[in-house]
Amino acid sequence: MKRAYIETYGCQMNISDSELIAGILAEQGFVATDKPDDADVILVNTCAIRDHAEQRVIGRVGQLQQYRREGALIGVTGCMAQRMGESLLGRAGGVDLVMGPDAYRQLPDKLEEVAAKRTPARSLPLAFGSHAPQQPRGLTVLGFDPHENYEGVAAKRISTVSAWVPIQRGCNYRCTYCIVPYVRGDEKNRDPLAILDEVRALAQDGVPEVTLLGQTVNSYEHGGWDFPRLLREVARVDGIRRVRFISPHPNDFTRELVEVMATEPAVCKQLHLPVQSGHNRTLKRMLRRYTVEEYLEKIAWVREAMPHVALSTDVIVAFPGETDEEYEGTLELMRSVRYDDAFLYKYSERDGTPATRLPRDQFVPDEVGQARLERLIATHRAIQAEIYAAEVGRIEEVLVEKEGRRGGLQGRTESNKVVTFEGPVELIGGFAEVRLSSTSGATFSGELVGALAAA
Ligand code: 5AD
Ligand code: SF4
Repeated sequence: MKRAYIETYGCQMNISDSELIAGILAEQGFVATDKPDDADVILVNTCAIRDHAEQRVIGRVGQLQQYRREGALIGVTGCMAQRMGESLLGRAGGVDLVMGPDAYRQLPDKLEEVAAKRTPARSLPLAFGSHAPQQPRGLTVLGFDPHENYEGVAAKRISTVSAWVPIQRGCNYRCTYCIVPYVRGDEKNRDPLAILDEVRALAQDGVPEVTLLGQTVNSYEHGGWDFPRLLREVARVDGIRRVRFISPHPNDFTRELVEVMATEPAVCKQLHLPVQSGHNRTLKRMLRRYTVEEYLEKIAWVREAMPHVALSTDVIVAFPGETDEEYEGTLELMRSVRYDDAFLYKYSERDGTPATRLPRDQFVPDEVGQARLERLIATHRAIQAEIYAAEVGRIEEVLVEKEGRRGGLQGRTESNKVVTFEGPVELIGGFAEVRLSSTSGATFSGELVGALAAA
């Protein structure tokens, strides 16, 4: 029996991929372990979206070498593996297997292959050996498969309360800053009937919440099904009490989708709609394919149909050529939309993306980018703190997810806000009524009012 340890970096799609990888390995008799020190196989599932994410992985692979010296195999999977390919084999002390996001079905075979190639250091004939043990050559498995959707793989999910359900892989947009289309390939969508079967099985297992995942989840299209139709059907599955989806693209965001969100009780009144910039010139250079005005109009539809909707977004500052005026546009947009949550980033140059070819002399100096980011974060946090403070005192339905880090229980409100409160562990997996009693600015502490019976 082989033990596998998986460590995941990056977005929800990667977390979901790790659950698929765990499922593929389990089918071949691997047992999951949560400690690298007793693993035969250590997999690092990686992200390539920003340089910082990659640097963290390199550092971590270096740390993991101690287990490799004791005989464990180290595999690097995911976006960074796809991006760096063979050059990763010799990095940070060495890697045994480099595998891109479309190749996970081959993982058990390739692990066996690489294990067979690897000569244990102690069996090397000493007379011929150098001081360092010979580096066995690793394997790379890259390349895209336009049909690979991991259909039929039973994901081994981490949570029994809330499930990630991938409905789409890859991306057909080509936002000029973004590495995703080059490491995950073109968009491919799963069969809606297979998705619905999966959601029904989850509901039967008692999972009340699903989050539909895709790089541009609302561009979903399969044999006459579009995203609003799929969302409506998922929301109507018996036992499913909450449905979320990430991340929609503003360009594919339609009135019909707003209608489904507003009318289906199980669809959470919460929307993450990445804007990236609040200035049309920057949006154009980013090739986002919408204007600030069009984005704001869609936000207006959403608020009109769902006045209490919680909104969140992603923003990049210091994109090549971003002037002070363009940056001010982003600040202005943040002040006018007033997001409940926001993920704010400084542009990170990614080799091979179109933005790297923009005029060099217009690139924003790092200190300027850092200052822009800090000011944007401060602006957002002040707004967020006001929104959260105004919600103190409310009684919310909370889906109880787990024990809190500092004791008690932790869950989320319909609007995806984290609440910690005291209560019995038996509540985990169910809904509770919780009064929001105070806020840190980005999370709540609450008091249990009562447990809610399952619907
Ligand atoms: N630099 C900084 N942020 C980026 N993102 C994507 N590519 C980059 C990049 N090169 C951000 C976008 C996206 C989020 C997942 O990551 O805001 O929505
Ligand atoms: Fe990247 Fe744009 Fe595709 Fe999102 S829509 S994954 S930002 S290319």
